[in-house]
Amino acid sequence: MSLKSVHELEAEHLLGTYNRYDILVDRGRGPYLIDRSNKRYLDLLSGIGVNVLGYNHPRIVRVLRKQIKRPLHVSNLLYHEHAGRLARRLYAISGLEKTFFTNSGAESVEGALKFARLFANSGRGGARKHRVLALDGSFHGRTMGALSATHPARYRDPFEPLVPGFDFVRFDDVEDLERRFSEDVGAVILEAVQGEGGVRPISDAFYRRARELTRASGAALIADEIQCGLGRTGRWFAFERCLPPGAAYADRPDLIAIAKPLAGGIPMGAVLMKAAVADPIRAGIHGTTFGGGPLACRIGLEVLKVIEEERLLDRAREVGSYFKRRLEELLVLPAVREARGDGLMLALELGVAARPVVERLIQAGFIANSTRDTVLRFLPPLIIQKKPIDKFIAALRAELEKA
Ligand SMILES: Cc1ncc(COP(=O)(O)O)c(C=O)c1O
Repeated sequence: MSLKSVHELEAEHLLGTYNRYDILVDRGRGPYLIDRSNKRYLDLLSGIGVNVLGYNHPRIVRVLRKQIKRPLHVSNLLYHEHAGRLARRLYAISGLEKTFFTNSGAESVEGALKFARLFANSGRGGARKHRVLALDGSFHGRTMGALSATHPARYRDPFEPLVPGFDFVRFDDVEDLERRFSEDVGAVILEAVQGEGGVRPISDAFYRRARELTRASGAALIADEIQCGLGRTGRWFAFERCLPPGAAYADRPDLIAIAKPLAGGIPMGAVLMKAAVADPIRAGIHGTTFGGGPLACRIGLEVLKVIEEERLLDRAREVGSYFKRRLEELLVLPAVREARGDGLMLALELGVAARPVVERLIQAGFIANSTRDTVLRFLPPLIIQKKPIDKFIAALRAELEKA
């Protein structure tokens, strides 16, 4: 099928919720995607932060081949061997003892909000602790609960009324957090680096104050690590950057929501939680048909193993700071305002609209995207090397000189 006929077919029968770029994907290898006309693109977006090992990673392909001969789905009424093993690995990297598996980021956030409410309600505040604080600029997903914690009006307004009790703190503003915090707050949810919000890291001070306030009042701190977690910033979790020196268990969040890269492209998410949060939770109180199936869990185990064995956290830090330095060189151009981010979660703030720049970069064979109108966002696979980054910077400079 040609791009034109795919386009027409989708226009007729697919809900128009996405503004796609004109690429008809055929195959991928490493950090590259190849379209039906054999044009190659360097993928600096990784399917919006999903394909951290690039495409067709030989170890993932090998495990998939083996696993595909086994039952693809096993209901949560039966056992299979991989869910417990993956949950134990997630405990090893997070320090949070218990896991609930989901199928997407939004479902992880929904679960985290529900578990946080049970935790807060079972403490000394009882059912009064119904409020949730989130941050200006946050994005936590599109389902009603996750959307209620999502800040920008364009996502929320068409669907009002949303879940009651959600309130927004000015981004990274400790005083505003203190002002809005009260005994009836049951949870604070934050992204250590806001993704859709334009790659904006929160400060150590903000994280630590949110941790102190929630701990002291028996509320839960939820870290949404769906985009910034699992190696993206050169640490397993982005919030680790905010921990005090010699951090203890108590300094970690009570719940962590993850998804995107967890099973290397197979839809999967998880809510990680401390034992105290898991304590009041009994069979039947929450569930999901597909969550924690054998295929996703087996691939998830391999993804974490590859990240560890190929030292991709170190790579993300090293190549990420190289990429950032190269982006900073572009600050001399009039169209460029700021380069920011951590590890391989990077952005360039422009003084002009970013979408036309993205479209011209695609023509030139590079996939990036834009958020907040003027921000170019980069979430390349963690396996990316410096050489393709150099080629990209040259192309980007040429585009921005014209902008
Ligand atoms: C921080 C964050 N939370 C939640 C979500 C929602 O994830 P999903 O699209 O898998 O539902 C996203 C998606 O971009 C995200 O970046």
